[in-house]
Amino acid sequence: MAFPKQVTLVEVGPRDGLQNETHIFSVSDRVQMIHGLVDAGLPVVEVGSFVSPKWVPQMKDSDLVYEQVRKIQNVRLPMLVPNATGFEAALRLGVREIAVFTAATDGFTQKNINCTVDESFERFQPLIAAALKEGMRVRGYVSCVLGCPVEGAVLPERVRDVAKRLYDLGVYEVSLGDTIGVGTPVAAQRMVEVVAASVPITALAVHFHDTYGQALANIFACLSLGVSVVDSSIGGLGGCPYANGASGNVATEDVLYMLNGMGITTGVNLEGLLTVHRRVRTLLGRDLPSKVARAKLG
Ligand code: HMG
Ligand code: MG
Repeated sequence: MAFPKQVTLVEVGPRDGLQNETHIFSVSDRVQMIHGLVDAGLPVVEVGSFVSPKWVPQMKDSDLVYEQVRKIQNVRLPMLVPNATGFEAALRLGVREIAVFTAATDGFTQKNINCTVDESFERFQPLIAAALKEGMRVRGYVSCVLGCPVEGAVLPERVRDVAKRLYDLGVYEVSLGDTIGVGTPVAAQRMVEVVAASVPITALAVHFHDTYGQALANIFACLSLGVSVVDSSIGGLGGCPYANGASGNVATEDVLYMLNGMGITTGVNLEGLLTVHRRVRTLLGRDLPSKVARAKLG
């Protein structure tokens, strides 16, 4: 097993975390949350998304949030972009990194972005090219890599084909999303091995949801293959509004605790994460799924 010495944690809480909450966070609460996450040492914090507010009202005013955090130094602040309208918003605001998103299955893209996988590529192709021309970094997400809420089982070869298409368009990293959290460790390894035969493993990230309590085991399994970028969400917040039954993302606190125990460097400090956790918990008025936070904060 070749575990990486260093792992990059990509914090998706302010976007993937909040997009699924019934409580809509104010702009200032979102800004404060992002500042706290940066202060905790996270190197990448996804700020929000330029999607239709009719589809995801929680992400409305992502432009106002971005405007208030854009000057923070030494952190990457990607914004999720589904189409040309979203890209124009990113351009207007001088966003330096965007993330595009598609899936391994048409069943899911139809529900999530109202088009097939092929049509999603027709949308992305020109905007990725334009973004790269502007000097932006572009990240790509593939959802439903281990199962789809509409189509069921997903073959790793389908994931590989979509990941490679994204990579060939110039995204610097492809995040492989187990959107509904159905994956188990050996299946996750098999999927990553198949994808890594076509996309360099250094350009792959993993994005697990913890629906069946498998997320940490899946991450461990993928780290053993050399994956060194992990998406996670403060407190274990999140899910996708268009994936019934998907529970939260893996909690950043829990991933950090595991990585610390393995001697893997992240630059992130747990106390800083717990400070953010406390505030978010208070705003939501309920406990969040992170086990580490529960052990530390009660
Ligand atoms: P549509 O209805 O097919 O689009 O939605 P449309 O072009 O017909 O536009 C409909 C309305 O939306 C129009 O407004 C547009 O102007 C507006 P109206 O004329 O009705 O007043 N509109 C926009 N407004 C703001 N920003 C935009 C934008 N585009 C159109 N960018 C669309 C297509 C893609 C817009 C819609 O399906 C959408 O916004 N979907 C987003 C869904 C979403 O955000 N899902 C969650 C993120 S993905 C995820 O969580 C998975 C991930 O975490 C990885 C994993 O876990 O697997 C990444
Ligand atoms: Mg997600």
